[in-house]
Amino acid sequence: MTTPDHAGHLERNRRHWDEHAAAWHGPLARQHWSAPEPRWGLWASPESQVSMLPGDLAGQRVIELGCGTGYVSAWLARAGARTVGLDLSRRQLATARAMQAEFDLGFPLVLGNAEHVPFADGTFDFAISDYGASLWCDPYRWIPEAARLLRPGGRLAFTRRSPLFALCAQSGAPASTSLQRAQFGLLRAEAGMAVEFTLGHGEMVRLLRSCGFVIEDLIEIQAPDPAHRDYLEVSADWSRRWPSEEIWKARLARSAG
Ligand SMILES: C[S@@+](CC[C@H](N)C(=O)[O-])C[C@H]1O[C@@H](n2cnc3c(N)ncnc32)[C@H](O)[C@@H]1O
Repeated sequence: MTTPDHAGHLERNRRHWDEHAAAWHGPLARQHWSAPEPRWGLWASPESQVSMLPGDLAGQRVIELGCGTGYVSAWLARAGARTVGLDLSRRQLATARAMQAEFDLGFPLVLGNAEHVPFADGTFDFAISDYGASLWCDPYRWIPEAARLLRPGGRLAFTRRSPLFALCAQSGAPASTSLQRAQFGLLRAEAGMAVEFTLGHGEMVRLLRSCGFVIEDLIEIQAPDPAHRDYLEVSADWSRRWPSEEIWKARLARSAG
């Protein structure tokens, strides 16, 4: 199912999701599956503001990398896309299957690793990750894999935590207003069993370009005022002053060079 995992993050993250996180994440699925409009990230940014999705989804072949409970794939399927959801966690996919039955909406769900996906080159028109591969996978593995999976001209969109948030994050407390760690070497962070990845902006730009992507947008999300809530890891006030999360959009060049 997975590539050899020299760093150990795949097995650690699979266990984190199967044995711990799926239990609290699963009950949120119904609310997302029922949403009348896609909303993204901590601050529920409406699709009408951020345009994470291409406008012409009908008939498009889409893969969601780290689909979790499958609600993004459900939104895409309702818009007419031929979508596949892929996730490392059996338990997350079990919730996705339960939601498919409840909402009477089917699409393929694949148990697998977004760093090594069991589909041929150029299979998809659009790849998306909403805090899935974009947070839990090594970017130097999953972004080249997304490029391989897309046809020339295909699109990639993903949400993730911002590097600034990663620099200010504190264990067991909201993000600080002062830097807590160095940016150089930021890539990998361990919290208990889980391993998360954050690449700085310059490195992300170079990685995307080296994989053949043209960057179309980078949206740094500002929390609305008022925001619907605070989080343990970051307050709404912090996120009105600095971006705690961001959306990247890129398109694969039509030909090499
Ligand atoms: C925060 S959830 C995001 C997914 C979706 N937006 C949701 O909220 O249900 C993160 C998901 O990434 C998955 N994941 C972690 N590592 C992965 C990997 N290497 N390949 C595929 N999925 C992975 C986890 O199992 C989890 O379901």
